[in-house]
Amino acid sequence: MKIFINGKFYSKKAAKISIFDHGYLYGDGIYETMRSSNGIVFKVDEHIERLFHSAKMIYLDIPYSREEIKKTIYKTLKVNKLKNAYIRMSFSRGFGEIGLDPELCEKPTFAIIAKKFIPYPKEYYKNGVKIIVAKTKRNHPESISPEIKSTNFLNNILAKIEAKKQNAFEAIMLNLDGFVAEGTISNIFIVKKGILTTPSLKCGILDGITRKYILENAKKLKIKVKETNLSINDLYTADECFITNTSLGVMPVRFINDKSVKFNGDVINKLKRLKLG
Ligand code: PDD
Repeated sequence: MKIFINGKFYSKKAAKISIFDHGYLYGDGIYETMRSSNGIVFKVDEHIERLFHSAKMIYLDIPYSREEIKKTIYKTLKVNKLKNAYIRMSFSRGFGEIGLDPELCEKPTFAIIAKKFIPYPKEYYKNGVKIIVAKTKRNHPESISPEIKSTNFLNNILAKIEAKKQNAFEAIMLNLDGFVAEGTISNIFIVKKGILTTPSLKCGILDGITRKYILENAKKLKIKVKETNLSINDLYTADECFITNTSLGVMPVRFINDKSVKFNGDVINKLKRLKLG
């Protein structure tokens, strides 16, 4: 495994970042997770665009063009001889003295890790997974905007710990108004009376690339879509429920807390046929 850091490739053991990197010291950084199939990175331009958006929102100047970043992603795949890969690309504020001021760091640390993509077990897709509604709330968009795909992931990690304690695959966080926001690493959808519904971006969620792709393609498949507020009760009474992200694609939900939900109906089956990677 060869890891890209600031222009060079290192073995897994040699791939190291300073203890003074503000990504380590303060979680001051941003990242993207991507997936490649047969050597093609799914929605690579969208991921790069979201990276630049996150960077702008944390006032981090990426000293590369979008094209250079794309080339580096593909080079990392090539160096690792990978066709079907899980790719994690990050920029941290970089090496600097202790202190919150971003100007203490001269240049950002750019890293890419690519490893063989190992799909989730088939049974998960067949039988559906359990999710819980976490007590941990999604942070308010005016504190840290969920639009920023930040390496400061404690909000999500605290919810993930709740999921693990309850043997659940994913934890769904509510926003401070009590409406459904998103999972720790996923967006959520329900289907009710044939209408595919998902929390709107105003609910304080990441603008998921899979979410967007599902919404666009659902329309093409003549499935009615709605982006709005969802309550916990809407989840419980859904005809179908699923979560999405770059690695999961469309993952059906079977249990929400300890309530079973109907699952794997018409809409999920239609959407599962979409090429999501
Ligand atoms: N997570 N919401 C959150 C909080 C996420 O972290 C992610 C992605 C998503 C789905 O986004 P997309 O469809 O663009 O993958 C929604 C990635 C997979 C991660 O953290 O590794």
